[in-house]
Amino acid sequence: MIFNKADFIASYGISSQLPESDRPELSFSGRSNVGKSSLINKLCSRKNLARVSSTPGKTATINFYSVDDCYFVDLPGYGYAKVSNADRERWDDLINSYFEAPRHHTLLVQLLDCRHAPSADDLQMLRYLHYHRIPYVVALTKADKLKKSQLAKTQEDFENICRPYGCQKVVLTSGENGYGIPELQAVLNAAVAA
Ligand code: GTP
Ligand code: MG
Repeated sequence: MIFNKADFIASYGISSQLPESDRPELSFSGRSNVGKSSLINKLCSRKNLARVSSTPGKTATINFYSVDDCYFVDLPGYGYAKVSNADRERWDDLINSYFEAPRHHTLLVQLLDCRHAPSADDLQMLRYLHYHRIPYVVALTKADKLKKSQLAKTQEDFENICRPYGCQKVVLTSGENGYGIPELQAVLNAAVAA
């Protein structure tokens, strides 16, 4: 895949408006502020393809990007404390209708902050992915915040947590310094080629 052949398509607040699913979709999920937009930018070697926000949880939209012959799908972040019940329901509707639609769900990248144990919301997401048999890998974000000596142990800890939920692989990454990006690109390429 030519990762820097990337364009923003549109943001969708209602799943019935999503573009036709005519190619592999690589989707990205995680709590607000975990680093989804930063990771997408780094994967595509682009500074501002996906907007990086310092104020999390502002908009709950599904953002579509075309990346070579695939779609990258930036799913709305969850776990932001200050959302209303109505917003939460809208998030549920968006996510459920995205996954229940007959789309090319090639691989989902579930982002988890490498510095913290998964939150209750994260674990609920892992359970959801497992239950619905959605193929996924975990990208641990913000690896630049770890000391070198912590990397291997952190990876192993998360593998042990995530494996029972059907996770295929755990990759340590940084949207800041690019750590693990080639490895994650290889995982995405393999999924698309499969
Ligand atoms: P929402 O779209 O609001 O859900 O957030 P997001 O998951 O897209 O996170 P985003 O990429 O906007 O990053 C949130 C904050 O974390 C920003 O201040 C980023 O600069 C910072 N950040 C993201 N990735 C990394 C990383 O790998 N390392 C470090 N140190 N900071 C990061
Ligand atoms: Mg974002």
